[in-house]
Amino acid sequence: MNDKVAIVTGSGSGLGKAIASRFALEGATVVVADLNESTTADTVREIKDAGGKASGCKVDVTQQKDVGRLMADVAHAHGRVDILVNNAGITHYRDFSSTSGADWDAVLNLDLKGVFFCAQAAAPYMRRQQHGKIVNISSSLGTGTTPHVGSLSPGASSAYASAKAAVIQLTKTLARELGPSGVNVNCVAPGFFLTPLTGAVRSPEEVEEHIRVRKSMAVLNRAGKTEELAHAVLFLASEEASFITGHTLYVDGGRTDRM
Ligand SMILES: NC(=O)c1ccc[n+]([C@@H]2O[C@H](COP(=O)([O-])OP(=O)(O)OC[C@H]3O[C@@H](n4cnc5c(N)ncnc54)[C@H](O)[C@@H]3O)[C@@H](O)[C@H]2O)c1
Repeated sequence: MNDKVAIVTGSGSGLGKAIASRFALEGATVVVADLNESTTADTVREIKDAGGKASGCKVDVTQQKDVGRLMADVAHAHGRVDILVNNAGITHYRDFSSTSGADWDAVLNLDLKGVFFCAQAAAPYMRRQQHGKIVNISSSLGTGTTPHVGSLSPGASSAYASAKAAVIQLTKTLARELGPSGVNVNCVAPGFFLTPLTGAVRSPEEVEEHIRVRKSMAVLNRAGKTEELAHAVLFLASEEASFITGHTLYVDGGRTDRM
């Protein structure tokens, strides 16, 4: 990853932070692009303390102008945009019947439209270079379901699952459009990882129940470690994956609930 410039959205926290840190460890210059300024600064500091190269950028990936500015600033500062990891995401677990239009829009705007905006803004730079790697983060809920154990369970994920399924298909269409320009577009679908997202929308008891159900859904019967997700993203963003595009790699401990 030496000489590569990598933008990781939502890398102030959780999986994105692990991905950014891993890329920096491999020599990439990492741009930590997140809505949260304080966690962004923390990630940048931790990467630098470990000897890596990183800068932070406050961005709301649902805002096309913000995203355009991010890409232009990175290209101006570094001369190129080699890698884009579309990781920023949220979930609202809510029964289908009580999911409001606003809930739906909040999830779809970030988890799907944000991916579209970022890829669209990065593409001109990658096309000009005739080289680039885009890795989109979907979810195992993009193709599977989870048993319903209450209104805050992953079973109640119509908006989230719809967005994450669309990210898998968006990956394929972008791979087709950008392939002739030497740009690989792939997707990683994580199973269950313990991150701030896991607890953001639940009480501690609900988190416990969530952990129990989710762990039992994977043949490895445990949650993933954030670095295990980062390894997979690193591979797809590397030259070792040069002949892979339009692919979705499941990093889910062998979930058994795909329907
Ligand atoms: N944790 C899991 O088990 C799991 C499973 C499957 C998929 N995923 C996906 O992985 C990705 C990361 O999840 P996580 O668990 O690390 O979550 P997280 O909540 O720890 O991190 C998400 C990050 O996105 C940032 N963000 C939120 N809105 C943003 C916006 N509008 N613009 C820019 N940044 C924004 C947040 O500030 C945060 O730093 C998400 O796309 C999520 O859907 C996670």
